[in-house]
Amino acid sequence: MDKREHFGGRMAVIMAMAGSAIGLGNIWRFPYMAGQNGGAAFILIYIVCSFVLSLPIFLSEAVIGRRSHSNAIGAMKVLSPKTKWRLLGYLSVITPMIIVSYYTIVGGWSVEYFLHSFSLNFGSFVPTGWTVLAFSTVFLALSCIIVALGVKSGIERFSKISIPLLFVLIVVIVVYSVNMPGASKGVDYLLKPDFSKVTGRTFAYALGQSFYSLSLGMGIIITYSSYIRKEENLVVSGMGTAVADLMFAMLAGFAIIPAVFSAGIEPGAGPGLIFETLPFVFSNMGASHHWIGVMISALFFLTVIIAAMTSSISLIEVGVAYLVEEKHFKRGWASLCVFLFTWILGLVSVFSNEAFGIIDAFSSNILLTIGAFIAVLFVGWKMDKEEIRDEITSGGKVNGKVFGLLYFLIRYVAPLAVLTIFVTNFIL
Ligand code: PFF
Repeated sequence: MDKREHFGGRMAVIMAMAGSAIGLGNIWRFPYMAGQNGGAAFILIYIVCSFVLSLPIFLSEAVIGRRSHSNAIGAMKVLSPKTKWRLLGYLSVITPMIIVSYYTIVGGWSVEYFLHSFSLNFGSFVPTGWTVLAFSTVFLALSCIIVALGVKSGIERFSKISIPLLFVLIVVIVVYSVNMPGASKGVDYLLKPDFSKVTGRTFAYALGQSFYSLSLGMGIIITYSSYIRKEENLVVSGMGTAVADLMFAMLAGFAIIPAVFSAGIEPGAGPGLIFETLPFVFSNMGASHHWIGVMISALFFLTVIIAAMTSSISLIEVGVAYLVEEKHFKRGWASLCVFLFTWILGLVSVFSNEAFGIIDAFSSNILLTIGAFIAVLFVGWKMDKEEIRDEITSGGKVNGKVFGLLYFLIRYVAPLAVLTIFVTNFIL
């Protein structure tokens, strides 16, 4: 009999998946991208990309995971032994390990900035060096400990507390932010539809952002779905995750951008937005009412810490599941190995911001697009249609009617769209 762990139920699945999805991508990239690329026009394109392209890819990975009941590498061995498709398995384990190595550094920065919130003295932008190493080591260690505790007692329990908490925290910040003087310019920046800003690149940005945000193309959905019971509805889990992720991204936008405009500055993206611009905004708030600045800043960085941690545990779980199932490590040892491996890899990014940028761009633009592309091709063209139907309809119980549409999207639309966008934007 199968002695693998399973998530407790539909809510547990959605919370864990949303935990992976909601992260730095929602906080430091989405708001800026929306603002720069036509506001509501971008958001509309983003929503279409998420549901028409990303969701079918999400489901493809979910089918691979649940059908095989295996970690990402094992899954390909089960579903297509001794073929070139194995590459997908390897890629799906390597990419998240690379991402963890820099993602947890940002986790470390957030811990540091959380502590600085109490004095509102943030010092210089994006710290490098020994203190960062110390804080990111703590962050990585905590994430590995949660994973070591197990799928149910670690990942599921942590996500079930974190996700509702994240929404409460971000809503508190939104309420404060949109009521600041001059905040309405920020609301306009996010929402005013400007179709003149929409070009071919906008689609690439929207799709790339939605891949990253939904944690596609890196073995996470494969691994997490392998813990979903047969009777759970995969389509509902995918929709729930996508909706939660989108809602959080929008809320993050309304938490950050109006406050930035209110301080009279223009928002940027990436580390600069939350570790340079926002600290300035928080110090400004604190100039008139010290405790308000302290409180909003501390709440904000706490949000970043939790959001980053639920994502990093999902990345770590991919490697741990692989070591436990393929190499027969005990869970604790596997977590320790992933800790050591990613810690060493992360040293490069700790001491060089340039390396950090290159590793981030390479893994999040290129590797994950390739992973997502191979996954959708595998399901659409290699797997047996009836097997896919069986998974997506949970043995014929649900979604009978939408299956045809989903299968069409998986087989034709998603791979073609991803290929077109990838080739025109990253290669040509
Ligand atoms: N989805 C997360 C975010 O938007 O920040 C980041 C992430 C987590 C990317 C897990 C990839 C991943 F596998």
